Amino acid sequence: MIISPSLLSCDFANIQRDVEMLNQSKADWLHIDVMDGVFVPNISFGFPVVQAMHKHAKKPLDVHLMIVNPDQYVEEFKKVGAEYLTVHFEACTHLHRTIQLIKSHGMKAGVALNPHTAVDVLSEIINDLDLVLIMSVNPGFGGQKFIPQAVEKVRKLKNLIQNSGSNALIEVDGGVNQETGKLLAEAGADALVAGSYVFNSENPHKTIEGLKQL
Ligand code: DX5
Ligand code: ZN
Repeated sequence: MIISPSLLSCDFANIQRDVEMLNQSKADWLHIDVMDGVFVPNISFGFPVVQAMHKHAKKPLDVHLMIVNPDQYVEEFKKVGAEYLTVHFEACTHLHRTIQLIKSHGMKAGVALNPHTAVDVLSEIINDLDLVLIMSVNPGFGGQKFIPQAVEKVRKLKNLIQNSGSNALIEVDGGVNQETGKLLAEAGADALVAGSYVFNSENPHKTIEGLKQL
């Protein structure tokens, strides 16, 4: 299992310390949540903060954009170190164009689906994607309760990916812990995001190792 701890739950007064902790851990990627206060009812952080995280990170940045008009900022996210760049299906009228734009800048392209969005909407674009992010909470905040329908969505997405011959990875975000992670692993998830579960735990290293073994 690929584990991508979400820095939304880190101590922002100690970003370097927390990124270095993740460098030393078994985490595979660093999940970075960018919110604009328009697409979601919260504002997180922007380019200078992502750049600061990148400066200390020794692992790929898995950037999750919860913003409208992502095309406008694709180039800038490449500059501040994004390796995976994920946009929301619900925020992109011309999703195909957005995905090609991300790839043209040498990044891996992902699409996130809100809890109400069916996986079928990706059937015509699945072969162009490197990653699909299934939201198991409504985006905007860390520490929310897991929405159990996400497990069935992972199963459906796995089928869609296998039937189309796509190489897209399935990542799940929101309310992930050892228990929900197990259900998601059984359903076919390749990658798990975990914010509060990792950063609020007494021993984040052990917490990450537990998830890694799912
Ligand atoms: C929510 C973000 C998540 C968030 C997850 O909008 O996309 O990445 O950090 O936090 P937890 O793991 O606490 O649910
Ligand atoms: Zn996220």
